[in-house]
Amino acid sequence: MSNHFIYSRPLSNVALCLHSMGDTFKIAARYFTKVSVLNTATLLEPINAFLAVSTPVAWIDEAVKSDNLALMLTDHLMCELKAAQTAMLLLRRYAVDKDSAQALLEWLKPFEDFAYRKVGDGDFSGQLSLSKKLISRSHFVHGDELIDKMVLLIKEELHHFGQVLTIMQSRGMAYDNIGASRYARGMMQHVRTHEPAKLTDTLICGAFIEARSCERFAMLAPHLDPELDKFYTSLLRSEARHFQDYLTLAQRVSKDDISERVALFRSVESALITEPDTEFRFHSGPLNASNCAVA
Ligand SMILES: [Fe+2]
Ligand SMILES: [Fe+2]
Repeated sequence: MSNHFIYSRPLSNVALCLHSMGDTFKIAARYFTKVSVLNTATLLEPINAFLAVSTPVAWIDEAVKSDNLALMLTDHLMCELKAAQTAMLLLRRYAVDKDSAQALLEWLKPFEDFAYRKVGDGDFSGQLSLSKKLISRSHFVHGDELIDKMVLLIKEELHHFGQVLTIMQSRGMAYDNIGASRYARGMMQHVRTHEPAKLTDTLICGAFIEARSCERFAMLAPHLDPELDKFYTSLLRSEARHFQDYLTLAQRVSKDDISERVALFRSVESALITEPDTEFRFHSGPLNASNCAVA
């Protein structure tokens, strides 16, 4: 009945109606784009204030080359797993009891088996949550806070891992284990070896790595195809919170003001991001001229 009513209208009326609906959609789309640009800008404000330098244009030029897309996604995939592993290590070393430490190992095992030993079909849909409640060690006062923040972070990183892998598989990109860049190693070299300074510095490093990932997602997104643009923009919110969580925890566990340590890692991070690098990775610096592909 209603279809008959529509079809019996003069065509010009239907066209007028569709035209005005089209305008409404266009206005709504413009509105939502504007809102999401504003949200992105708000999310990035503290990140850009925290980092000393922006990603060099030379790195973006390299990252957007179609020949580098599989490499970038593979390294991004590994970065997601390493982010989960770092958080798991912190929980196992500082916060949880023996049984909980074992439960954490078991949680990440299928992801590590796939990434390092190519075991499994890459379907992790049933393995994103931790089945056991973690118990904190009684002598660590920040244990519960560390558990709450890090468990959520691991869950999100594993979800991102699955998302990147799905994108790679849908594009026919075979997964291959590749070596890590100098970046995280370069940061961790400056972590003090005595406690509680070691924990504070590790958390500060975590804040920088998360902040840089977030900044790079935002820098890359507009240069990528619509699917990756949407995906990288969607990652900004959780990565922005991860940076804040690490920084808050670093100040919480330290008796001293952490500004000096933050300043030190800021300058180390800035050098790693701006100084010439030997291989392209998600967190690499711009490539040495001699390593650039001949056009
Ligand atoms: Fe992530
Ligand atoms: Fe993250």
